[in-house]
This record gives sequence, C-alpha cells and structure tokens, in this order.
Amino acid sequence: MKKLLFINACVNRGTSRTYRVGKELVSLLKKSGGFDVCELVLEKENIQALTSETLNKKLELAEKNEFSNELFRYANQFKEADCIVIASPYWNFGFPAILKIYIEAVSVPGIVYRYGEWGYPIGLCKAEKIYYVTTRGGYVGDEKDLGYAAIVEIAQQYGITGTKCIGVDGLDILVNDVEALVKKTLENLPNQI
Ligand SMILES: Cc1cc2nc3c(=O)[nH]c(=O)nc-3n(C[C@H](O)[C@H](O)[C@H](O)COP(=O)(O)O)c2cc1C
Repeated sequence: MKKLLFINACVNRGTSRTYRVGKELVSLLKKSGGFDVCELVLEKENIQALTSETLNKKLELAEKNEFSNELFRYANQFKEADCIVIASPYWNFGFPAILKIYIEAVSVPGIVYRYGEWGYPIGLCKAEKIYYVTTRGGYVGDEKDLGYAAIVEIAQQYGITGTKCIGVDGLDILVNDVEALVKKTLENLPNQI
C-alpha cells in the first residue's frame, strides 16, 4: 500500500485551524489515493536539535554506510513516503522551530539525497509531492512565507518535483469571519489535490 506521511507541526490541536485543514486534506488524499497514513505529531516526538555528540555519531554511522540505524528513522521514513503532507502554523515569518528540528533529523545526505560527481545534490526521495498546509494571523501570502519557501527548496534537493501550498491568511484579523474563511478553504480542498 502507498504511504502518506502526515507531518503535524500544530500545537493546541483541539482548536488549531491549520490542523483542521491539514486533517481534512489527509482524509481526502487517503480516499482518493488509498494511502496508508502515518501521522507524526512533532511536539510528541521528542526530536532533539543536533548537538556535537549526535551530529558526530550520525557522521560516524554515515561514514560506515550504516543508514538503517535507528538514529536515521525520520530520514528513512521520509524517503519512503509516497506522499507528504505538512501542517504547520505560520509563526514569525515561517514555520515553528520544531519543524526545523524535524527537517534537521530528516536531512541526511546518503538517505534523502546524495552528492553527484560535481558536488550537486541528487534527490533520493520517493514522494512526488509535498502539500504544505498553513494558516496565518495576518495577510502574508504564500510567496512571502519563508516556511513555504524553505519547503520548496527542500523538496527540490530531495528530488520531490511537486510542492503545493494551501495557505489561509487573515485568521487573527478581528473583522474577519474566520469560520467562513476556513470553511471556504475546506470546500475548495478537492480542487487542490
Ligand atoms: C508564536 C506565534 C507566532 C506568530 N507569528 C505570526 C506572524 O509572524 N505573522 C502572522 O501573520 N501571524 C502570526 N501568528 C498568528 C498565527 O499565524 C495564526 O494565529 C495561525 O492561524 C495559527 O494557526 P493555528 O490556528 O493552527 O494554531 C503567530 C502565532 C503564534 C502563536
């Protein structure tokens, strides 16, 4: 069965608008693509930022081609996913630090990409597409969202040819009908996949 990896960087998921949209997208993709879904709730994953110790350990393992080691589990899981959905709120110009830490765990040369003869990266990931779901308090736009910009670069480096941003702006603007904005996004999701 094809695998969908749902990377959930949302907090307060009971009320998170980003999670609401992300969850619905995953459910639609599951129905249309028959995916087996694996959801990673990042705040529950206990992923640590790299330290001298963990970086050196990983370098040592990579040197010996021991890529099946448990320390590389996030990278191997990411590489093997057929479809990837990231749900992440817009925080301070981009995504929350926890998603950056997750990306640090995933971004292993030799697993998700390798270097070609002339030093350029060659992607090794299986997925054809990353969907990036986000909601923002103000009016930012997908093109100014540094979180989405990073995902586009990452996808290119990892050999994932398609990226799609599903972003909703203006959710903290008092005069906006927030429920209507979210509902409109949910209704439009079938046209986005
Ligand atoms: C820590 C933090 C940082 C934020 N930074 C910004 C920001 O820089 N620009 C903005 O428009 N909204 C910002 N917001 C508002 C969120 O983007 C907005 O409330 C979003 O809808 C939250 O998603 P959620 O409902 O899924 O939690 C921030 C919110 C938090 C909690």
